Amino acid sequence: MARVIVFGSLNMDLTIEADRMPVGGETLTGRGFFTNPGGKGANQAVAAAKLGADTCMVGAVGEDAFGDELISGLKGAGAGTEAVARVADAPTGIAMIIRTQGENRIILDPGANHTLRLPAVSAELDRLSAPGDLFVTQLECDHGTTFAALAAAHDRGLYTVFNPAPAVPVPDEVWPAVDLLCLNETETEIITGVLPQDDATISQAAAWFADKGVDPVIVTLGSRGSVLLRSGSVTPIGACPVEAVDTTAAGDTYIGALSAQLAAQVGAGAEPAGLRVEEAARYASAASALATTKLGAQQSVPTASEVQAFLALRA
Ligand code: RIB
Repeated sequence: MARVIVFGSLNMDLTIEADRMPVGGETLTGRGFFTNPGGKGANQAVAAAKLGADTCMVGAVGEDAFGDELISGLKGAGAGTEAVARVADAPTGIAMIIRTQGENRIILDPGANHTLRLPAVSAELDRLSAPGDLFVTQLECDHGTTFAALAAAHDRGLYTVFNPAPAVPVPDEVWPAVDLLCLNETETEIITGVLPQDDATISQAAAWFADKGVDPVIVTLGSRGSVLLRSGSVTPIGACPVEAVDTTAAGDTYIGALSAQLAAQVGAGAEPAGLRVEEAARYASAASALATTKLGAQQSVPTASEVQAFLALRA
């Protein structure tokens, strides 16, 4: 089994539900407040670990109670935490999440997530990784560090999975270090200028990625499923209809599940060109759908047996 190394954010999520967003100057009574471990990086690491991968988290938290809770959440899921730094000069990252009518609005304070720099990430790659392992990252840590870390991982022979979330325009020089790109519709629009809504716009976005040499690409489309863009072809991955209660971390569960499946394939001898990405994406789609049926971030990530049972019901 190849190892999944996730470099990314750890946030404590503070989440509340309301019927609508308050307007300026208004105080609104909400309900259902709770805290739970989150952060795109940590959510992806928890999903990969719960779904069977040997997983290590590389990141940073403060020397505070939220940091303790995030580390124990990762450990509880089976992810390695020895590369999660405790920093004295910044608090643990937090995310304020407002849930309104099935949608999330999130405001982040990255805190310790923005303190890690390339030398620290490279040192962890030297300690933890071997060629063929997977390197998974997003955009909630320092962007320059993240882009450089992608190149450092790629240079070491790791298979890089990039989830550019929250999205910003990505410099062209980053793309050669990306082996697999996975992003949602809005992230696709921010990066390519095209919102993938139908066959024509999906083809336009696919042409943009092909021009940059990024292949394969998975674009997730919410309740419409996802599409795999690979070697000039577009393969739809059907959605798994469920009663969704909270979409927080559904995308992260998709990436973690996808990475765990690909790591298992590498462990079974697959070379990068021979990875069965479509098969892994179908599994990820099921895991992600299950995550939407529970409230919260890491607490909503399903176990491998829950995903197997769900897939068996759909077969
Ligand atoms: O993707 C969901 C995550 O985004 C939340 O857990 C929150 O922490 C933000 O990082």
